[in-house]
Amino acid sequence: MDSTGSEGAGGAGEGQAAPGREHWSSRAGFVLAAIGSAVGLGNMWRFSYLTAENGGAAFVVLYIAVTLLVGLPVMLAELVVGRGAQRSPVRALVHFGGERWSLLGLVFVAAGFLILAYYSVIAGWTVRYALTILFGGFGPEGLGSAVPGAESGQALGAAMGARFAEIAEGPVAFAYHLAFMACTVGIVAGGVKAGIERTSLVLMPLLFLLVCGLAVYAGTLKGAGAGYAYYLHTDFSEVLSREVLTEAAGQAFFSLSLGMGAILTYGSYLGRDAHLPNSSLMIAGADMGIAFIAGLVVFPMIFALGLSEAVGASTVGALFITLPQAFAQMGGVGRVMGTLFFVVLVFGALTSAISLLEVVVSSSMDGLGWTRRRSALVMGGAIALLGIPAAWSTEVLGVMDGVANNLFLLTGGLALSLFVGWVMPNPLGEAEVGAQGVRWFFLWRFLLRFVVPAVLGFVLLDAIPDTFRSVADLFSAKPG
Ligand code: PHE
Repeated sequence: MDSTGSEGAGGAGEGQAAPGREHWSSRAGFVLAAIGSAVGLGNMWRFSYLTAENGGAAFVVLYIAVTLLVGLPVMLAELVVGRGAQRSPVRALVHFGGERWSLLGLVFVAAGFLILAYYSVIAGWTVRYALTILFGGFGPEGLGSAVPGAESGQALGAAMGARFAEIAEGPVAFAYHLAFMACTVGIVAGGVKAGIERTSLVLMPLLFLLVCGLAVYAGTLKGAGAGYAYYLHTDFSEVLSREVLTEAAGQAFFSLSLGMGAILTYGSYLGRDAHLPNSSLMIAGADMGIAFIAGLVVFPMIFALGLSEAVGASTVGALFITLPQAFAQMGGVGRVMGTLFFVVLVFGALTSAISLLEVVVSSSMDGLGWTRRRSALVMGGAIALLGIPAAWSTEVLGVMDGVANNLFLLTGGLALSLFVGWVMPNPLGEAEVGAQGVRWFFLWRFLLRFVVPAVLGFVLLDAIPDTFRSVADLFSAKPG
């Protein structure tokens, strides 16, 4: 670290530590980048599915409650630690808590490795789907089966399922994963302003417009009403279980990018004039909003084409089998809408992947003294290799996802809330910087000290054994 002090053009502020640390060029740049991190495959891939499976509108209510009472406090905690320390996760935790807290920082970095490795594989599928639909590859000919009349829905579904299996696993899946990782590495190597911020500034508004446009179009389809009814049927009896609470908490952490230092890292590029509570609210609000709107795209389309039966099978099923089938059955419009839909997914995945890699890269810059380019290349390369098993087996991918969510993010969030609630000196003072006049910080600390640990502890007691079982099953699975 040898360069001179930074001034944070555009008022993003002076970092008191770590001279030469890059800063966002504007507050909007930061907020869009953080929304970019939050909005991703989680919003489109899982939220709508979980909602439909677990009580519909009742699940949405539970999800909002979990986001406000558990997610939001942890997000503010990450921002407070990151902005206060002006350092990457490992160094930031050591700065406020002493050497032994480096362990938690290392867990964050490990989570970044693990999540990006499989996340990028799924992102690779979305790229391939966008291209395949654009070039008509999911038309009847492309699917390899003559699929004539309406009664062929099932044949088309089967062909699409087979096509998914072929796209999801194997050398080509790996190649798409590599290409996606290369893009991610290129952007992160470009730096905070010129790489991350600029990408988000372009992609996030586009993504938002596209999702809204798709939702409006979906609403015009005949039969859309049945889709809304399925998505938002209200059944409170379905949400009153520990499993559903676990799903909601895991989804909230994954979707808000919490529990592994991504938001902390982005916060470390903020100046002292940033209003952290307002930023947290905007990020969480945008993330929930887009997840909700994505459901208004997915379900009307599926139901308009009478494919509701096919939804239940699995989360990937809805997104990668049923929905493309719906697009295929729509003909020419479907080709346009389908391409746009998967382009949205690609944009969301890219801005999220960037934040995952940034956690690892900023840590190796701070910790090992590497340059940004070298960190991005070496760490990105290592993550690409770690993705190999996920690119060869969706089952392995599913287990990696479970481990990441249930073990890493939830325990990471639990540890961080205890850290800021009980260990960090004067978190309230740090949170107040740039946010004078906010009166509920004591409530924030109360949530961090008691409510967040209680909820996450309760959820983890159940999630940890389940996750270990799934890992054990994977290793003991014998063919035949
Ligand atoms: N929030 C991202 C999504 O919803 C995934 C993510 C998780 C990104 C953790 C960064 C950190 O897709």
